[in-house]
Amino acid sequence: MKYLLDTASLKDIAHYCEIFPIAGVTSNPSIVKREGQIDFFSHMGAIRSIIGREKPLHIQVASLDAEGMLKDADAILEKVDADVYVKVPVTMEGIKAIRLMKARNIRTTATAVYSRQQGFLAMEAGTDYIAPYYNRMEHMGLDAEDVIASMVEMIDRYSYPSQILAASFKNAGQVDRAFLAGAHTATMDPAILESALTQPHIINAVDTFDADWKSVFGDKTISE
Ligand code: E4P
Repeated sequence: MKYLLDTASLKDIAHYCEIFPIAGVTSNPSIVKREGQIDFFSHMGAIRSIIGREKPLHIQVASLDAEGMLKDADAILEKVDADVYVKVPVTMEGIKAIRLMKARNIRTTATAVYSRQQGFLAMEAGTDYIAPYYNRMEHMGLDAEDVIASMVEMIDRYSYPSQILAASFKNAGQVDRAFLAGAHTATMDPAILESALTQPHIINAVDTFDADWKSVFGDKTISE
């Protein structure tokens, strides 16, 4: 199980990487838009500086055609670094781009995945990661867990090198279910991670421990 942050906020990435065992960072054009008029490449470089070179950084192409996606990939790899996983939506042009990128040993993450068929085609095209959109599938009435489990089954059955990078979460329960269905990694907004540890019953339990300790020892801590 690996947890990634699905954000381009430098402040959040720095803050949450100090707290949680974060395994990498993802974004897409909609997430990047929230940062306003940034210098795209230097901003992505700043994310890399925070997380370090050993953790996967996934950056999405903006072009819609395969040729443009390849040019986007070249620019990302040249101006950020050669270790970036290039996120490519699994469309007709996207699947072509993934095949061409793999032929050039470019690391890829197949994204905007809503179905088994997209996932199966992406693994056969040689992608490193597949990003099924959990919450969006649920909204469509699809069984997101079953879709993820099917992809994991095919990866295992045929020994594809692809891994599942589950995405599009709106709560911690969805993340848990994606992992239980076999997702190797999951990316989420930091607020979802924080919500897992800030539930009122957790805070109440800790407040009670604190009050009971102080009722006996006052403000002295164990180490004093
Ligand atoms: C990440 O790679 C995806 O682009 C992202 O999780 C989509 O999330 P959303 O459904 O909240 O937009």
